[in-house]
Amino acid sequence: MAKQLVKLEHVTYQYDDQETPALKDVSLEVQEGEWLAIVGHNGSGKSTLARILNGLLFPQHGSVMVCGHELNEESIWEIRKSIGMVFQNPDNQFVGTTVQDDVAFGLENGGIPPVEMRERVKDALSKVKMDQFLDQEPHHLSGGQKQRVAIAGILALRPAIIVLDEATSMLDPRGREEVFQTVLELKERENLTVLSITHDLEEAAKADRIIVMNRGKVYRSGTPEEVFRLAEELIRLGLDIPFPVKISKMLREKGIDLSRQFLSEEELVAELWTSHCSM
Ligand SMILES: Nc1ncnc2c1ncn2[C@@H]1O[C@H](COP(=O)(O)OP(=O)(O)O)[C@@H](O)[C@H]1O
Ligand SMILES: [Mg+2]
Repeated sequence: MAKQLVKLEHVTYQYDDQETPALKDVSLEVQEGEWLAIVGHNGSGKSTLARILNGLLFPQHGSVMVCGHELNEESIWEIRKSIGMVFQNPDNQFVGTTVQDDVAFGLENGGIPPVEMRERVKDALSKVKMDQFLDQEPHHLSGGQKQRVAIAGILALRPAIIVLDEATSMLDPRGREEVFQTVLELKERENLTVLSITHDLEEAAKADRIIVMNRGKVYRSGTPEEVFRLAEELIRLGLDIPFPVKISKMLREKGIDLSRQFLSEEELVAELWTSHCSM
């Protein structure tokens, strides 16, 4: 059985100045090597969940386990080493004056010897394909490149899990694709566990599993195929379902019987050609 890296049990969190909790009785698990996408309307509690995971916030009820440690005041530093966070705005995350300084920053804080540090910085930057930019200053980089450097900064610390909170939402389509491909490769090659919080359901469609949040609760959890079967419900929850799912839904309404849920345009087109076109 796969190892459980994260386990939330009955987590409730309410901000001081709010009348209702941002998270209500949330339970979920993340397995080692898994890519879990979390989707949900604005204000559904996704970022609060990310903050709970790395101990920026402590839940009022329930428990959080990360890599076998229960999150509390004592374990928090250990836990932060195992969870790397990438946030939305690439410009708020750059702390170094050059690409390599930026990646080295977290390591300097961790008291790692200079020789090992240089190796780790180069290694992390080559994993995100930014090793040609060691001495570049941040303002010369595109948004996608900045986010890849942010990811390298995390990789250098060798965490077990990477949490991306809308990390691609401020990027143009090219930057989004760059970051997405980077994470995908890391997941496959380095067996990194990924928790991606995203508005982009096309991106979530490629994850191993999706959790749909609604008003602070886990509304559904399942494979992309299972979750997108709820097309109507997702639209009602304020989510924009992927284009091939929309088209499939319209085709079914017209009486065209599709054998399963298609999440990519290519697969849907292939199905229509082979099963529904007579020449
Ligand atoms: N720092 C904060 N102080 C008070 N309320 C907050 C804060 N951050 C978020 N909230 C509230 O908590 C709820 C969940 O927000 P959030 O976790 O940011 O959702 P999401 O990331 O899904 O958009 C919302 O009602 C939001 O207004
Ligand atoms: Mg958010």
